[in-house]
Amino acid sequence: MSILCTGGTGFIGSHTAVELLCVNQDVVIVDDLSNSSASVVDRIEVITGKRPVFYKGDVADKAVMEKVFSENSIDAVIHFAGFKAVGESVQIPVAYYRNNLDSTLTLLETMKKYGCHRFIFSSSATVYGTSDKVPFTEDAKELGCTNPYGWTKFMIEQILKDAAAADPELSVVLLRYFNPIGAHASGMIGEKPNGIPNNLMPYITQVAAGIRDHLSVFGDDYPTPDGTGVRDYIHVVDLAKGHVAAYNYSTEHTGCEVFNLGTGIGYSVLDIVHAFEEANSLKIPYEIAPRRAGDIATCYASTEKAEKVLGWKAELSLQDMCRDSWRWQCGKWSK
Ligand code: UD1
Repeated sequence: MSILCTGGTGFIGSHTAVELLCVNQDVVIVDDLSNSSASVVDRIEVITGKRPVFYKGDVADKAVMEKVFSENSIDAVIHFAGFKAVGESVQIPVAYYRNNLDSTLTLLETMKKYGCHRFIFSSSATVYGTSDKVPFTEDAKELGCTNPYGWTKFMIEQILKDAAAADPELSVVLLRYFNPIGAHASGMIGEKPNGIPNNLMPYITQVAAGIRDHLSVFGDDYPTPDGTGVRDYIHVVDLAKGHVAAYNYSTEHTGCEVFNLGTGIGYSVLDIVHAFEEANSLKIPYEIAPRRAGDIATCYASTEKAEKVLGWKAELSLQDMCRDSWRWQCGKWSK
C-alpha cells in the first residue's frame, strides 16, 4: 500500500515524503513541476535511500489520476498540490479557484472509485482570517479570509467536511499550517521561491546571500511587544512529522477532524531577524516600511489538540529553523 503525496516535490510535500519513507511507508508523488523540479525526487532518494514512485502530471486531470490509482494501491492521499501565492491569487482569482478546487474534486472522485478512504489536506492558518483571539483554536467559529488563496483553503475544508459527513467510510484530516520555515538538515531540499520572495524567511536568506540589499519590515506600529507582526514559525521537518501523525490517526478514525500544526509560540519580525543574525553570525540590514495590506498583528496556534489527539508536538527550535534555512540557501540546490 502506498501514500499518494500530490505536490510531493514542493517545499512541504518533499519534506513529508522524506519523513514517510523514513518510517517505511511507500510513497507515490504526483506533481506537475510548475513550481518545483524533478531532481527533488532524486534528492529524496539520496536522503532516505528509497525512491518514491513519481508521475509528472496535473492532479485536476482525471486521466492522470486514473493512471496513478490504477497502477498503484493507494491507501491514503496527502493533498499538497495547489497554487499558493497570496498576491497572485488577488490578480487571477478564477485560476486559483479552478486549480485548487478542481484538483480536490478530481481526487475525491477518483478515491471513491478506487476505494481509497483517507484524505489529509494542507490547509492554512489563513482560514482564521482577521480574528484577534489568539491562540487560534480549531473550534473557532469566526473563520474568514482576506484573499482568494485563503478562500480556496476555506472552501476545500468545507467540501471535505461535507464529503466526510456523507460517506461513513471516509477519514478526513484538515491540517492548518502556521508559518513553515527551515529546511531538511541535509541541505538538499528546501523552499525555492519563484522570483522575489513574499514570505519573511526566504527574503531574509536572500538578503543574507546578497541577492537583495535589505529587508523591509512591514509595519512597526502593531499592538505587539516590539510593534512588528507576530507569527508562529514552525520548522518544516516538524510540520512533515505532523503529517505522519495525521496519517496514523486516519487509520483508526473516520469523519473529519481539524488540527493546527504550529509551535504555539509567537515571534515578531525583529525576533526572527535577530535570531537569524545570531544563529548564523551575520547581519541583516533592514528598514521599517509601511504595513502590508491584509496582514494581521498576531497569529499563533493553540497546539493542545494536536498534542492530545495526534500525540505530535513541534520539537525544533528557532535556532534550528534559522540555521537550516541558511544552510539550504548556501547550498547548490536552492539556486
Ligand atoms: C503568508 C500569507 C498566508 C500564507 C502564508 C504561507 C499573507 C497576508 N499571508 O502568511 O496566507 O498561508 O504566507 O506561508 O500574505 N514580513 C516583513 N517583510 C517581508 C515579508 C514579511 O516584514 O519582506 C512580515 C509580515 O508582515 C508578517 C511576517 O513577516 O508580519 C510573516 O510574513 P509571511 O512570511 O509573508 O507570512 P504570513 O503573512 O504570516
